[in-house]
Amino acid sequence: MTLIGISGALFDFVDDPWKHVGREWEAARFEPDGLLVIEDGIIKDRGPRVALEPRYPGLEITHIKDRLIVPGFIDGHIHVPQTRVLGAYGEQLLPWLQKWVFPEEVKYKDPDYAQEGTRRFFDALLASGTTTCQAFTTTHKVATETFFEEASRRNMRVIAGLTGIDRNAPDYYVDSAENFYRESAELIARWHRQGRNLYAITPRFAMGSSPEMMQRCEQLKKENPDCWVNTHISENPAEIRTLLSLHEDCSDYLGVYEKYGLVGPKFSGGHGVWLSNAEFSRMSQKGAAVVFCPCSNLFLGSGLFRLGRATDPSSRVKMSFGTDMGGGNRFSMLNVLEDAYKVGMCNNTLLDGSVNPALQDVSEAERNKLSAYRAFWSITLGGAEGLYIDDKIGNFEPGKEADFVALDWNGGPPATAWHQSIALAGERPETMEEAANLLFGIMMVGDERAVDETWVMGQRLYKKSAA
Ligand code: GUN
Ligand code: ZN
Repeated sequence: MTLIGISGALFDFVDDPWKHVGREWEAARFEPDGLLVIEDGIIKDRGPRVALEPRYPGLEITHIKDRLIVPGFIDGHIHVPQTRVLGAYGEQLLPWLQKWVFPEEVKYKDPDYAQEGTRRFFDALLASGTTTCQAFTTTHKVATETFFEEASRRNMRVIAGLTGIDRNAPDYYVDSAENFYRESAELIARWHRQGRNLYAITPRFAMGSSPEMMQRCEQLKKENPDCWVNTHISENPAEIRTLLSLHEDCSDYLGVYEKYGLVGPKFSGGHGVWLSNAEFSRMSQKGAAVVFCPCSNLFLGSGLFRLGRATDPSSRVKMSFGTDMGGGNRFSMLNVLEDAYKVGMCNNTLLDGSVNPALQDVSEAERNKLSAYRAFWSITLGGAEGLYIDDKIGNFEPGKEADFVALDWNGGPPATAWHQSIALAGERPETMEEAANLLFGIMMVGDERAVDETWVMGQRLYKKSAA
């Protein structure tokens, strides 16, 4: 048994800030001089250091000074084999996949290439403060195994699965529905709930899945109801038009996944840019999640996600945020927050200053605004809720896995320290409001340079090197 302490300024969440309009701080906790007690990688206690320390005589404490310690970031939608596709020029989704993505992803059938790509992928995640991801691999079993092996080596909580596609991709890349089923079943038996690994049945997107492939996904979910389902939904207009022409019995995109019994708790659809009100409502009723990927939605020109609609209390949809790297041009969830904030602001803007009529009402406009509270909840506890792993991670509640990040509010572009100091009365944050102001500065002006340390299960796996 190992017992360790981490002391510093702790910031986490106990509730959804969208439920506390005008009083969002009620959803958060801030301990300017806090202590985390960690036993064998699991949080045993948290609270003010002065109160807690005497209860643990002899506790070996690591003091993390002048940092904000927040739960590890959760990336709800990312593509492992697109690490080298970052920043590919010039196309929207469908031609981008053909021109840049499939030619790169097919390289992952080579175990050496898969290993190198996957190692670099995890290194980049940790340097970005991301401790959990729900990931797409490729159609190759070896790439999926390599992913779980590498995650296990770092003891990270992950969700992933063999990525199924049997149409609308080049011959050299597609799999058969039969092979996808067989290999998925083998991978589930080998990896699901082994260590911190969780398995997601992963039809890449409905447009890339024949009816046979979708039926195989349905069969896998029936045979393995504990598994997750991860896919894309309603991302790009050309994609949506093509899909609906292939499924004339479905009136919308979600309907295709519903037809095959995939929509329910633990279902995630990435993007959801063009979801209708009816689709949002059905997702809400069924406990399914949408993953907001603003970097990608902007980079690939897919459109502006309706954050204020997804968070409508009358039909609230579970939601994670994701990079969608390489469709997203960043690894950092801080950049995701930056773009999410900008998308929300654009959704609200009209030339005459009135509320955009595409919005349902003024409160939708209010809900589009991504405060620091909403933002950091979304990539920690909220993200965990969207993925149905909030019993394991997302905040510093005792019993949860001790994944956290030490943020340096002064780390960032030139003049960051000077700019951030405007948020502080003294040298470091003493109040929740000061801490939230620093976090907003980090997400809007900073990037992964603000990530000083990343800890997984009570072990430090990343430390930023001195400049
Ligand atoms: N839809 C199907 N495959 C992909 C992918 O790799 N990235 C994105 N953004 N959308 C997809
Ligand atoms: Zn994606």
